[in-house]
This record gives sequence, structure tokens and C-alpha cells, in this order.
Amino acid sequence: MKEINVLVTGAAGQIGYALLTRLASGETFGPDVKVNLNLVEVPQVVSRLEGSRMELEDCGFNTLGTVKSFSDMNEASGDIDWALLVGSIPRGITINGKKIEERADLLKINGGIFTEQGKALGENAKADAKILVVGNPANTNALIGSTHGNNASQTWMAMTALDANRAKAQVAKKCDLEISDIKKMTIWGNHSPTMYPDLDNAEIKGESASGWINDQGWIESDFLRIVQQRGKAIIDARGASSATSAANAAIDTVKATLSETHADDWFSAAVLSDGSYNVPEGLIFGFPLKTDDNGKISIVQDLPISDYAREKIDLTTKELLDERSDVQDLL
Ligand code: NAD
Ligand code: LMR
Repeated sequence: MKEINVLVTGAAGQIGYALLTRLASGETFGPDVKVNLNLVEVPQVVSRLEGSRMELEDCGFNTLGTVKSFSDMNEASGDIDWALLVGSIPRGITINGKKIEERADLLKINGGIFTEQGKALGENAKADAKILVVGNPANTNALIGSTHGNNASQTWMAMTALDANRAKAQVAKKCDLEISDIKKMTIWGNHSPTMYPDLDNAEIKGESASGWINDQGWIESDFLRIVQQRGKAIIDARGASSATSAANAAIDTVKATLSETHADDWFSAAVLSDGSYNVPEGLIFGFPLKTDDNGKISIVQDLPISDYAREKIDLTTKELLDERSDVQDLL
């Protein structure tokens, strides 16, 4: 049986718990691939991973390979094909008497994690490793990680699939459609309230989604606000940040890179900007992406961008440039 080596940080956390069974069950990598899991946690909770290992064993998946626990990223990252970097602090909690309100407030707290993790992956993971940052603020954490990884053959991404799934769900509800009727959803920019979910280039049954919806008021106010603020709405309702839907989006992102993207669709994740759509090179920016039949991921080119969309894309670009200056000392 073919084998794949997958590393998950923050594996004892909420998202980690929802993620591990879906990575190991055969659903993600297929029924003929053994999944070896390297689970990483901070030393204080690494012992809890033994419980996760026991549960995975008790699921009886044919596709489960080895399950190992680590608190040292250098040891964990040897020969890794796929790394899911979830480990970090969520917003909504109180640290030193101050409630962490915005994802960007986590920059100073979480950013440092990704220097060491990036370096370890750059040195020890496979040359064609793919790395998805879930921990917030995901784009700038991925920027820090990829800078320290310093390995151009590896692919770093930050997760915006959750935002794309949220956007599709809102459109499906509004238009009384199936989720599968909605294709080509792009989340431009940052995984933050400045993200821009693009309905002009999204499609419903082959037509522009904004044309199909034909309600610009709803698109520019309700839709945008709901998608941009969905993370906070979930924290307010649940008392904790999204976990099942976040794990689901991470699985969606991994799957989107495993086979060629269908001609009538694309997927959304943030990757290193090469200057496409006038986004400054070197930012980790949400783009429409395709995977080719060799597993290479590229940015979908030449989409029309309206003046309204340009304004939104420039706003989220500015936020990412500001975040980059805030973490200059970590780059
Ligand atoms: P959680 O607090 O339940 O779990 C986080 C885990 O990470 C903890 O077990 C903690 O011990 C571990 N951890 C902390 N520092 C670590 C390190 N240096 N190495 C390894 N592990 C470490 O949080 P959660 O709900 O699982 O969320 C994790 C992160 O994902 C948060 O930053 C959250 O904001 C983010 N998130 C992102 C998205 C997205 O769409 N990008 C969606 C949901 C949540
Ligand atoms: C989300 O979008 O649900 C996550 O990024 C968690 C958060 O802080 O909003």
C-alpha cells in the first residue's frame, strides 16, 4: 500500500480532534493509501495525544498507519508530505486580562510559533511537501513560516476554504440551490474581516453568481458582512471558535490539491503572490487556484476585476502589508 506522512500541529486541540479521523479514515487520501500521522503538541499536553492515538486505533481504519506524538518539530517533520499547522491560540480567549478580539491581535502571540516550525519543515520535510496554515492570523503566519522554511520547492498555503464554504452556503440559502450548483468561489486576500468573497467570478449553473442573484444590495451588505464576520458569529454563539467546519475546510483544501481541478471549477486558498492581479509579490494572499495533473498548483489568471472588487482587493492587500510590517522582526 502506498504511504503518506502527515504532520498535524495542535493535534490535541479542537480542530485537531475533528481533523484526525478524517485524515486517517481513507476519506482524504483514498482507500489505498496508508496515512502515517505525526502529531505535534506543546510539551504540557503532548501526553494527551496518547488518547488520540488510542481512539484512532479503535476506529479500525484499514488506512491508518503509524501514529506518533512529538513536542519537537525537528523530530516530527522528517519526510513529511503534508503538514497541517493548526497549533496556535484562538481569539475569543482572555490573555493577561485582555480579551483577544481580532485575529490580527494574535500576531504577536502566535507569529513566533511559525519561525521554528517553518525552519524545521524547510530542512526536514519532503522537497514537494505541502503545508497548510490554519492557525490565525493564518496568512501572516504562513508568510513567517515560508520565509523561515526558505525552500522554494515546498508549497505553503493559508486556509481560506472555510470562507469559501461559508460564502457558498449563504448563496445556496439565498437562491434555494444545492451547494454543488455553486462553483468557482474565490476569497481574495486575508482570512480576516477584509477578505473579499467574489460573486462576479463565481458561477451558478455556468452563469455569473452575481448576475443570477441579481440583488447587489444583498451582495454588498448582507452577504459580505455575514461571510466576513462568520468566525466571530460562531465564537459568540458557541463560546469557542469554529472547529468542525474548520477541520472540514482543511480536508477540502488537502483534497483539492490531490487531483486535477475540474475544468468548471477552482478552489480557494492563500498562496505566495507572484504579482498576479497586481498583488505585491511575496504576500500570502487568497487567490483562485487550480491543481494540474502533476499536482502543481497555480493561480487562475485573467479574471475580470470590477472597480468595486479592485477597491476591496486593495483594502485586504493593505491589511496584509500592515501585518507584514508588524512582524518584520520575525521575518
Ligand atoms: P485550540 O486551543 O482548541 O487548540 C490549539 C492547540 O494548539 C492546543 O492544543 C495547543 O496546545 C496547541 N499549540 C499551541 N501552540 C503550539 C505549538 N507551538 N506547537 C504545537 N501545538 C501548539 O484551538 P483550535 O480551535 O483548534 O484553533 C486553532 C487555531 O486555528 C486558532 O488560531 C484558530 O484561530 C485557528 N482557526 C483558523 C481557521 C481558519 O479558517 N483559518 C478556522 C478556525 C480556527
Ligand atoms: C474562523 O473564521 O472561524 C476562524 O478564523 C476563527 C476566528 O477567530 O474567527
